Amino acid sequence: MRFVFPAYNFAPALTPWMFVTNVWSAMSYTAALPKQRSFGETSRSDAWWIQPLLVFLGFSAFIVYSTWAAFQGLDAKHCYYWYGGDGANYLSPFYSPELFGSQQHPGIFGVAPSWWPGFMPFSPAFLIMWIPAGFRFTCYYYRGAYYKAFWADPMNCAVGEPRKVYWGERYFPLLIQNIHRYFLYFALIFILILGHDVWKALWFADDARVWHIGIGVGTLVLAINVILLAGYTLGCHSLRHLIGGFLDAQSKAPACAKGFACVSCLNRRHMLWAWLSLFWVGFTDVYIRLCAMGIWHDFHFIF
Ligand code: FES
Repeated sequence: MRFVFPAYNFAPALTPWMFVTNVWSAMSYTAALPKQRSFGETSRSDAWWIQPLLVFLGFSAFIVYSTWAAFQGLDAKHCYYWYGGDGANYLSPFYSPELFGSQQHPGIFGVAPSWWPGFMPFSPAFLIMWIPAGFRFTCYYYRGAYYKAFWADPMNCAVGEPRKVYWGERYFPLLIQNIHRYFLYFALIFILILGHDVWKALWFADDARVWHIGIGVGTLVLAINVILLAGYTLGCHSLRHLIGGFLDAQSKAPACAKGFACVSCLNRRHMLWAWLSLFWVGFTDVYIRLCAMGIWHDFHFIF
């Protein structure tokens, strides 16, 4: 006699004995589930702590440096976020788009706005830096990385964490992370703006303020910056969903399927793009700052 268990109609027909042994082994498996580990407890023998430590150090260094760099725009006498020596025109990505600038380099709408509260210091970076910062902070990759590195949730896979319940991101404050898709729209616009900055960095003024096309080390630094940021932004998980992931049948929308494949291709290395672009955007600011301070000299050729 053959017996078919109705709830598992996709399974092959079972003999009564097989059914009993399967149920028994399932019950044994449930009973053998591991206990919750205490904080830091693990049976992993590899150096699992290196990755969160590197994330902690790398991310902390960037936060400290970018905050310091944003506050340098307060200096009324110097403008080190823009380099105009030898006719160059390099703007630090931390300050782009420069809506309101300094006396030495006014922005699109001039210098510090009159509506800015008098009790608050003003730096051009304050108006725009929250967009790239918010985009990175809510990035799906970075969330996984800094949850481990900054508040041990958990410290790494299969390592005990310091709390007993899992709230996920369905409750305040982590619920706010879902704003990522909206930051994406701004981040895409920023790529265009930074691309325009590279175009401006291709032009050099002579003594008569006539502009000539050329290329300098700063032009290359800015161009690499926008390429890396584009690789990071265009591989975003939210963009992947937006461009084709939302479709049930991509075969009915070939253009979306193509876009989805391109974004997926970048998305596979999203972590690499994230770190390379983070490092390079910081380096771009350092390069322009040191040139503006006269510590480094920018080489360029005029065609
Ligand atoms: Fe990383 Fe959107 S998921 S940038």
